[in-house]
Amino acid sequence: MIVIMRKRTLRVFSMSLSLAAIGLGAWILASSSSPVRAQDQTKSPAYHSPLSLAISPDGKTLYASDPTAASVAVLDISGKTAPRTVALKGVPRGLALSGDGKLLYVALRGTGTVAVIDTAKASVASEIPAGRWPEAVAVADKSKRLYVCNQDTHSVSVVDLATGKAIEEIPVIREPASVAVTPDEKHVVVANFLPHGAATDITLGAAVSIIDAAKLAVASTVKLPAGSTAVYGVCVSPDGKWAYAVHQIGRFNQPISQLELGWVNTYALSIIDIAGGSRLASVLLDDLEQGSATPHDVVCSKDGRQLWISHAGVHEVSNVRIGAVHELLEGKIPDALAKLRDGSLPDPTPEKGYRGKDPMPDEVLAARSEANIWVRIKEDPRNVYKLENDLTALYLAGAIRRLPSGGNSPRGIVLSPDEKQLLIANYYTGSIAVMDTSTGKISGKIAIGAQPKADPARRGEMLFHDASYCFQRWHSCASCHQGGGRIDALRWDFLRDGIGNPKDTPSLVAMGKTAPFNRLATRNTPRECTRTGVIGSHRIDPTGREVDDLLAYLLSLQPEPSPHLTSDGKLTESAARGKAVFEGKADCARCHTAPLFTDLKQYNVGVVTPHDMKKYKGMYDTPSLLEVHRTAPYLHDGRAMTLKDVLTTHNKEDQHGKVTGLTPAELEDLIRYLKSL
Ligand code: HEC
Ligand code: HEC
Repeated sequence: MIVIMRKRTLRVFSMSLSLAAIGLGAWILASSSSPVRAQDQTKSPAYHSPLSLAISPDGKTLYASDPTAASVAVLDISGKTAPRTVALKGVPRGLALSGDGKLLYVALRGTGTVAVIDTAKASVASEIPAGRWPEAVAVADKSKRLYVCNQDTHSVSVVDLATGKAIEEIPVIREPASVAVTPDEKHVVVANFLPHGAATDITLGAAVSIIDAAKLAVASTVKLPAGSTAVYGVCVSPDGKWAYAVHQIGRFNQPISQLELGWVNTYALSIIDIAGGSRLASVLLDDLEQGSATPHDVVCSKDGRQLWISHAGVHEVSNVRIGAVHELLEGKIPDALAKLRDGSLPDPTPEKGYRGKDPMPDEVLAARSEANIWVRIKEDPRNVYKLENDLTALYLAGAIRRLPSGGNSPRGIVLSPDEKQLLIANYYTGSIAVMDTSTGKISGKIAIGAQPKADPARRGEMLFHDASYCFQRWHSCASCHQGGGRIDALRWDFLRDGIGNPKDTPSLVAMGKTAPFNRLATRNTPRECTRTGVIGSHRIDPTGREVDDLLAYLLSLQPEPSPHLTSDGKLTESAARGKAVFEGKADCARCHTAPLFTDLKQYNVGVVTPHDMKKYKGMYDTPSLLEVHRTAPYLHDGRAMTLKDVLTTHNKEDQHGKVTGLTPAELEDLIRYLKSL
């Protein structure tokens, strides 16, 4: 039976204890703020959705990229002057300001350039060529370089700012999403958004790349814990020793029914030793029964002792006393904390726990009297990995505060030069909240412009990204369908088709036209699929309007033109040859029929799993191949890391297209064609 819960309910104590992986600790509840809806009803051409922020060195001017309005907003922090906007040709994403504040660099998705804005004139002065999908930029003033994360080519461009030309393109792992330069400019830290590997690998997880700026090459690749994905924010400590990356840890080796235990999607801060190229620790930002969904950005105070993190999915900002965390990791534990045992938790009262029903089992009592996690790490440093599974460590140490962000979906954040204020870009609210860093209270808001009334698709988009819509705020739809309804590159075991047969997260880009749904075609209409999706993933019974809104958003998703096409949107010569193979001797088009590249039917293509329920007979739904270049891993269980693996390793007997007869060159052309879709 599916348990449907609308309200946050207290966890039954025995359940969290039955999972040895979960540490015990203080029972501290974060504030449960409800999302703020777009209030302003005035008509205007486009929604405002502030994403990334940069602040002038004098602290007077704030810049916000506004992707839905295709502009950068120039805002007076005192609020005295009206906002100005700089219109842009592409979709603005990440921002970076030169040290003197004179030039603002803006990554423009779609145009494949970085716009250079003259801040005195508030106009575009020049454009620097980059990958097609630049996501983030960082300036190295002393070495006069700009580092650009290219999500399309999975690389970082190094631009010489004297000439405005790229001097190197350094391959990283996958979809680099943010970049930070150490103060001495010797190292460049890059967050790879998605993991790259087969989802059948239980250790699959994303990584952080550290570039040696002198050698123009990756010095080390630091793997994050298994299940790490959606690595968005990264920053470095002022002394250049540490990098802090915020990300999700999907417990993708567990069935989705673990939601009640907080064991589906969790959210972490990873601490990385930059010069050593290793990970010191990954500590969870959630508490026992309140997820801190979708950390987006992270900034560090000048003394290196505080971190501020935006949590887009729960409309919060957290403040982590990172200086204290480092001390705890070194074994310097305040006496008061050292005395706290995990067993010093308050007893659950009979009505909240099971105490009244059964006596407490011995192993539970034993676990509850264990020394706390920080003491256990001091006793044996190898215990540090347990922090990845401990939903209470930061709370027990009083090292985290979670605060309402003053709006819906906080993304970019920046500290004022005097660090008295934290500026927070609330994406869906369309304004910037000003937080007083000493009190954690919102002291003001800076509007970008009039926010149009949200239509059903925009309302659906908000709901899709809103983890406060989920049981105990553990995740939003976007936690798994990242990147605008796409993928997390992991697989998940929903229970609709039996247990023990996880499915690779599909992209929802063409879903409106590609019924039936789910890999085994278990749902027939988009509405039914969306409604049951909410129940299955969120343990929430949605209202009719919520389903309509979610559906309006899903139907509004459009595939982006492949970055593998030529600049004028055509197939390359190789891809054009591949098209002929696809439609001809490889026999792909029979099932993957244009324009959606699916005939909407199910087939057994020889990749059956023993755990499949017999009634499905291994008949998987033919997936659309639109945007297949960005949706690895592949096949229903994500067993194939690359397109080549789909066609060769997992297709030895030509049950899935006729591939064994192709020459290596034909196979290469075929793959180029697939990447162009
Ligand atoms: C824990 C990860 C996770 C979460 C959270 C999640 N999904 Fe999914 N979604 C999946 C996976 C995995 C599948 C494939 C399931 C299958 O094949 O049986 C899927 C399938 C779907 C499909 C069918 C797509 C198709 O074309 O077959 C839709 C639609 C969908 N999800 C929408 C949603 C919505 C809406 C939400 C939020 C209410 C949501 N999902 C939350 C992982 C997730
Ligand atoms: C008989 C019908 C059929 C033919 C012919 C066929 N496919 Fe498929 N294809 C499928 C089905 C069904 C799946 C889903 C299998 C699964 O989920 O495990 C699939 C999956 C895929 C995937 C993985 C997509 C993803 O998102 O996981 C790719 C890529 C693909 N096919 C490419 C091709 C190519 C290239 C050819 C020609 C060489 C081809 N297919 C021929 C039916 C077919």
